[in-house]
Formats: sequence, structure tokens, C-alpha cells
Amino acid sequence: MKERVLSGMQPSGILHIGNLVGALQNWVKLQTQYECLYCVVDLHALTTNYTNPQVIGGYVNDMVVNFIAAGLDPQKCTIFLQSKVHEHAELHLLLSMITPLGWLERVPTYKEKQTELVDRDINTYGFLGYPVLQAADILIYRAKYVPVGFDQLPHLEITREIARRFHFLYKSETLVEPEALLTEYPKVLGVDGRKMSKSYDNAIYMSDSPEVVDKKIRTMMTDPARKRRTDVGNPDVCPVYQLHTIFSNEEEQGYAVVGCRSAAIGCIDCKKVLIKNIFAVLEPIWTKRKELINKPDIVRDIIEEGSRRASVLAKETLDMVKGDMSI
Ligand code: TRP
Ligand code: SF4
Repeated sequence: MKERVLSGMQPSGILHIGNLVGALQNWVKLQTQYECLYCVVDLHALTTNYTNPQVIGGYVNDMVVNFIAAGLDPQKCTIFLQSKVHEHAELHLLLSMITPLGWLERVPTYKEKQTELVDRDINTYGFLGYPVLQAADILIYRAKYVPVGFDQLPHLEITREIARRFHFLYKSETLVEPEALLTEYPKVLGVDGRKMSKSYDNAIYMSDSPEVVDKKIRTMMTDPARKRRTDVGNPDVCPVYQLHTIFSNEEEQGYAVVGCRSAAIGCIDCKKVLIKNIFAVLEPIWTKRKELINKPDIVRDIIEEGSRRASVLAKETLDMVKGDMSI
């Protein structure tokens, strides 16, 4: 029996190459080794987009297209939609009964997002409960591992605490305390040198055309001290070089470092190598996206079938949980 892995991604925007190398490529690797469940968490997207929920459906479809295009295989893993598996919502409600408010108020992302998303009012019950819903996503499958980035560790810790509290209160051993499968990845920088993010408008999207990717990189910020072709530069402060460390081989990284520090190459020479390498990663994705984008039925069927499979597993856990809670 393969060990079970669960992860989730929020359909609150279209995916960029930071999502690809930070999460998706890792998900693709895991699908051969583990029993993987990958959840598009549309209810989580609702916590911050409840005033314009109509955008979420489009993001869900594009996300699943990108999952398949990046190499997730619905024969090897289960791709599903959170809102289609009602057990997530029901377990969320039950777990909310036993989750102390203080645990939720202490989660760092809670205060951070409140100050970050100034354009929305997320002073809501649903948003405070975000980590409880995430705990339900994980615990409902009794998943052993959860591949996530560093920023998600507090959510995972709450999940473990909720499981322990459940076991303590109901003298049960129904749930599984999950462990993080930490994906250590350097922060992918955007074209302006800040962290790549859809909210900064600095991202290279998986759905960008070759022309757009080419243009974004050609106009991307470099070491600001390197104003003229004859100025030497410092790759360590250059976001283009940071992308080289992810997408280029050692020889090419050496070419960039030595060429930059000695002004033997210009920034366009340096960027051309990066463009070539990012194209190499995106080309198979573009091809698969083209095949899928005009076939909404295929995408819909994948979501339907995945959600059916997930429901069977979720129901088993929910039945046991309800038994434990005498309801
Ligand atoms: N909070 C996660 C994020 O922002 C998304 C998520 C929701 C998740 N449910 C999950 C991740 C369950 C892992 C497991 O990235
Ligand atoms: Fe950046 Fe490359 Fe230009 Fe150096 S040569 S500043 S690493 S783009």
C-alpha cells in the first residue's frame, strides 16, 4: 500500500512559473511514489473572493488544465474539486466545534492577510476559520504527508493540534496527524525583482504565449548598477540570475556569473539563455494546454471522476468521526 499524500491549491488566480517550480513539478514527482490526492480548494478561494465568486470557476478550469499540462496524470493521482466533496464542509463544521479561537487568532497568516488585502473586508467568520477548513481537507483523507511550502507550516501544525484534541476529547484514534513534505525552493522572483505574485503584476504565467514570455524577460529588471554594457554587474542582486539558478544548468550559470562580473556579456546575451531554458520547460506545457483548452468536457470529466473517487474516501472518515462524536 502506498502512503497517502494530500495537497491543495487555491483557484484565486491563474498559475505562474513560480507555482510550477515551487509546487506543481513536485506534485508530478510524488504521483508515482504515493497515493496522491490533489484538491482545487475553491471554498478557500471564497474566503477572500466572496464578493466576486463568479471569477473562481474560470480559475478552477485553468488550474486543472495546467495540472494536466504540467504532467499530473489522472490515472496516477486524484484531481478533484473541494466543493464537490461535501464531506470537507461537514468535517469543517464538526472540527470548528473543538477548535479554540485562540489557536486561530495566533496563526500568522491571519493578521498578515488582513493587512495585506486592504481592498477587501476579510474580517469574517469564514476567513478566521480558513485553517480549520484546511485541516478538514487533510484529515478527511487521513493523509500521512502534505507537500507544502514553508509558509504553510503553521496551518499544518494547527491541523495536527486539532487531530490530537479530537483524539483526546473522544478517546478515539480515527484521524492521522499529517507531516509536511517540505518543498525547499528558492523564492521565484518576478520581472520587477520582487517575489513573483499575481498581485504584483510581475509574473510569467504558464498560459503566457512565447512572444509574451520573450518580451517579459527581455524587459525584466537586472542589476540596477549595470547601466551600460561596459559596466560590470553583480548577479547576486539580479533577479534574472535568480531565475538562472532555477532554470539553467551549471555551465550556463557560470557563463552568466563570469560574463556579468567581467562585463564580457551583455544583459541581453544573459537573458537569451534564460529565455531558451524557460521555453524548454514551457513548450510541452503549451502543447498540452492547446490540446485541452478547447475541450472543456475532458477537464470537466477529470474533475467529476476525481471528486467521485475522493468522496468515497472522505465518507469513510466522516462516518467514523460522527460515530466518535455520537452523532
Ligand atoms: N492554504 C494552502 C495555500 O494557500 C492551500 C490549501 C488548502 C492546502 N487546503 C490545503 C494545502 C490542504 C495543503 C493541504 O497554499
Ligand atoms: Fe543580470 Fe545577467 Fe545582466 Fe548580470 S548580465 S545584470 S546577471 S541580466
